[in-house]
Amino acid sequence: MANTIIETKDLKKYFDTLKGPCKAVNKVNLRIKQGETFGLVGESGCGKSTLVRTILKLIEPTSGQIFLDGVDITDYKKKKLMALRKKMSLVFQDPHSSLNPRMTVFDTLSRPLKIHNLTKNNEETMIEITKLLKLMGMQPEHMIRFPHELSGGQKQRIGIARALAVKPELIFLDEPTSALDVSVQTKILKLLNKTKKIRDLTYFYISHDINLIRVVSDRIGVMYLGQIVEIGEVDLIYNNPIHPYTKGLFASVPEPDPDKKIKGEPLSGEVPSPVNPPMGCSFAPRCPFVEPKCREEKPKLKLLSDGRRVACHKDNLR
Ligand SMILES: Nc1ncnc2c1ncn2[C@@H]1O[C@H](COP(=O)(O)OP(=O)(O)OP(=O)(O)O)[C@@H](O)[C@H]1O
Ligand SMILES: [Mg+2]
Repeated sequence: MANTIIETKDLKKYFDTLKGPCKAVNKVNLRIKQGETFGLVGESGCGKSTLVRTILKLIEPTSGQIFLDGVDITDYKKKKLMALRKKMSLVFQDPHSSLNPRMTVFDTLSRPLKIHNLTKNNEETMIEITKLLKLMGMQPEHMIRFPHELSGGQKQRIGIARALAVKPELIFLDEPTSALDVSVQTKILKLLNKTKKIRDLTYFYISHDINLIRVVSDRIGVMYLGQIVEIGEVDLIYNNPIHPYTKGLFASVPEPDPDKKIKGEPLSGEVPSPVNPPMGCSFAPRCPFVEPKCREEKPKLKLLSDGRRVACHKDNLR
């Protein structure tokens, strides 16, 4: 079995707000295996980006633990954090705003190389950047361009190249194609797939597009109001979602082929505020199968015989 590259234990990230703490990530337990593509899916505001930013230590966790290759990195600061930045990196959602408009492609890509002392001189930097551009299907002459001289797809290729520059083991992709046209999206997905093989990478892929997550992932986690409600092999979950939220989420997506349409009640009602989440199961107020216990006790993720985990009190949802 593949090694675990990232593990979180009861990870929480609460933001202080005027109305009280916003429980954006609320006790998340996950394991990402070396070499896999893990897809995180869930509606807007459920805490996907916050979870990733917390794992990357771009923001401080409120409580819980994060392990990278078995080492507890929860309290890493300064120098040790620098070492982390070489192991895992992030591709942002919007390539139009994530690149500095005043920096050329060369400047953007040489920064991580210089910060981490990965190249000794300008010549080595040039060689490395040329390699990165080639990997991204771009030409050496793109080095002198500014972001406004690039198309959306090219900008995102630079965003990916920047994440790859430090030769990380793990890349977090936070909606990397959602700001792009569909045809460009497909090209970027192919490129990511190819790069993963060449560089032997692990991907943590975030999207609220469940059709996309299905195509790219080996395993998925379904997130609702700061928590993982179902996690396991992608085909198992798509062919037979078990958590009522997963069922609802999948049933809410337009599917042209009626045979493939997942049966279940599409989601109704509003997502409660993470500042004031429900007492028991977070999904209880919207759940068609709710029982009194669900409103009192938070269900834990339980391991099922097929290897997936589901956080639901009902045992007979299959
Ligand atoms: N810096 C912050 N201060 C206060 N609240 C925050 C902050 N960042 C995020 N939140 C809140 O945390 C919750 C989770 O936000 P997050 O951006 O992680 O969701 P998301 O799943 O990535 O959503 P989307 O799909 O829209 O990107 C939201 O309620 C959001 O308003
Ligand atoms: Mg987000």
